[in-house]
Amino acid sequence: MEKQLEDLKTAFCEDLDHIRKPEEIELLRIQYLGRKGRLTSILRQMGTLSAEERPRMGALSNTLKTFLEGSLEEKTRSFSTEAPVSGIDVTLPGRVLRRGSIHVINQVMAEVEGIFHNLGFATATGPEVEDDYHNFEALNLPENHPARDMQATFYFPEGTLLRTHTSPVQIRVMESTELPVRIISPGKVYRCDFDISHSPMFHQVEGLWVEEGISFAHLKGVLYEFIHTLFGPDIPLRFRASFFPFTEPSAEVDMGCIICKGKGCRVCGNSGWLEILGCGMVDPEVYRFVGIDPEKVTGFAFGLGIERVAMLKYGIDDIRLFFENDLRFLSQFSTKGMP
Ligand code: PHE
Repeated sequence: MEKQLEDLKTAFCEDLDHIRKPEEIELLRIQYLGRKGRLTSILRQMGTLSAEERPRMGALSNTLKTFLEGSLEEKTRSFSTEAPVSGIDVTLPGRVLRRGSIHVINQVMAEVEGIFHNLGFATATGPEVEDDYHNFEALNLPENHPARDMQATFYFPEGTLLRTHTSPVQIRVMESTELPVRIISPGKVYRCDFDISHSPMFHQVEGLWVEEGISFAHLKGVLYEFIHTLFGPDIPLRFRASFFPFTEPSAEVDMGCIICKGKGCRVCGNSGWLEILGCGMVDPEVYRFVGIDPEKVTGFAFGLGIERVAMLKYGIDDIRLFFENDLRFLSQFSTKGMP
């Protein structure tokens, strides 16, 4: 029996040497160590041995068994492609990287910008920390003017403030570029307000077109085109007289409620209309601040809140959802199929 065990070891070593693929290792294991394997059948003869021989043979076959198992394991390891690095199991699967997605506000912002770019408007940007002159004064809102109350402002001690709208960008563009001007100014704006429909930071896109011969009809044409592209070609619009210090005449624009199609519902407060933006013809007083002759040119301006547009577009009833970073909400607008 000792001889048999020795022969078996020799044969095993030879077979092991011939292994070229990892799948063959398991076959070899079954051939030698399996229930009907070669070692097992030798061990079956144990019963025929004398009581003196038995312990020695038992020990010998145990050592052989350990040797076979160890050799098979080593062979398996030799097939792993990466060399083992101490302390790191390089065969473990990597961590899955969670891909991000474009925030719904940025998606709507890009869509709105795209529509105005197609209408020939260029994008202009400006600082979020503004001075009083560009945010208010040059927009015909002198100190102590009651209309400043319309925009609850965050002030800094040194006389600067967080811009309450992107209209100051329009002042900066008119100060620094030649006419004609046809721009939109997208960006973050800040007001000291916080409830279901107000956020202390939100996004605006304002527009300005100043050129010889621009009339209220041009303003209406641009806004109709914009709303119809964004919400569909059948949406009715109405222009309601309003007041802004920097436009005259001024209007607020309502669009037919997209939820109830004008019949009246909870979202439109049963009126059938939803307020969507403010607009008007640039007040000649504003031109005075930027050195433009109001006798030569006319122009219009408009401003809208992106969060409001997104809320109407997707039927969202609380503005705060945009800023809570709850993935259950945000992933509904995922652009990349987030996990
Ligand atoms: N700046 C105004 C606001 O933020 C919006 C507006 C822009 C109104 C241009 C009229 C013309 O409230």
